[in-house]
Amino acid sequence: MARQLAREIPEADLRPIIGVDPGDRPTGALGMVFPVHMISVPIPVRKYLESADLSGLDYFFAVATHGGTPGNVGGFINHLLNRRGSRRLDDFFTIRMILNTPKGVAPRPLMTMNWAEKIATREVHAMLERTDAELSVIAGTIIARRRNAEIPESPIAQNQSLHAGGLSRLLWKVTDGSRPELDFLLDEESCTKCGICCRVCPTGRVRLTVATPRWDDSRQCWFCYACFNFCPEQAVGVKHYTFKTGRYHHPQISADEVAAQKFC
Ligand SMILES: Cc1cc2nc3c(=O)[nH]c(=O)nc-3n(C[C@H](O)[C@H](O)[C@H](O)COP(=O)(O)O)c2cc1C
Ligand code: SF4
Ligand code: SF4
Repeated sequence: MARQLAREIPEADLRPIIGVDPGDRPTGALGMVFPVHMISVPIPVRKYLESADLSGLDYFFAVATHGGTPGNVGGFINHLLNRRGSRRLDDFFTIRMILNTPKGVAPRPLMTMNWAEKIATREVHAMLERTDAELSVIAGTIIARRRNAEIPESPIAQNQSLHAGGLSRLLWKVTDGSRPELDFLLDEESCTKCGICCRVCPTGRVRLTVATPRWDDSRQCWFCYACFNFCPEQAVGVKHYTFKTGRYHHPQISADEVAAQKFC
């Protein structure tokens, strides 16, 4: 999504958030593209919003991809920024994608979801066609600085007050903190020790030991599920979810591209 948006916006400079120094003071226009995590933002996005000096910007926007329940992510970003007296968002957009269920924290009934059936090729193609078109509209709005444009959303998202405040903050706490909360499991028989899970992990939590990968509990987990979704053998399980019923990541991003974004 970020890559396509950057292609459509003249002179856009696309940077992975992991490599951005919050000490740098951006000027001009800045945008963030990220997946909704727990009706809020992923941990590295939050870290950036809590510390970056945004006072030099004349336009600041965010694009949140989500799986159907984005909540009030834009409001939450502004809440974070307000709290430290920072400038707020000028524009906020949401795009519905495929729901990449967070299995480690989902209720047990959802753990039985068969991804191979639920996330069929036809559904993925339909999603790509729709999101291409939506993204072009968003790019046009950004280029023209037509502020406060909103892509139509589901009824739940329209009634954003349902998700604002307390619930967001509670869920946010679940995904925060320095201790990893997710227990990933390894099917040692299927694991070929290819090292992909280790290369795509943005925080360095997954380490390839002499024998097999291990999740280092002294490292923070960002709940990106890259180790889980990019394993070609489906050898990574999470909590109770050990089924080999398919894994999903956006079809236009490869493990190599994810690995290239990390700096630790
Ligand atoms: C840890 C985690 C938490 C998520 N929480 C939400 C959520 O609260 N609401 C939602 O609509 N989607 C949620 N999702 C789904 C993703 O936002 C969605 O699948 C993603 O934006 C798809 O983008 P991609 O295809 O570029 O990965 C979550 C995904 C993960 C991994
Ligand atoms: S990506 Fe899968 S097969 Fe490769 S080392 Fe990790 S767990 Fe093993
Ligand atoms: S790759 Fe796995 S261990 Fe690493 S941050 Fe993402 S979810 Fe956590």
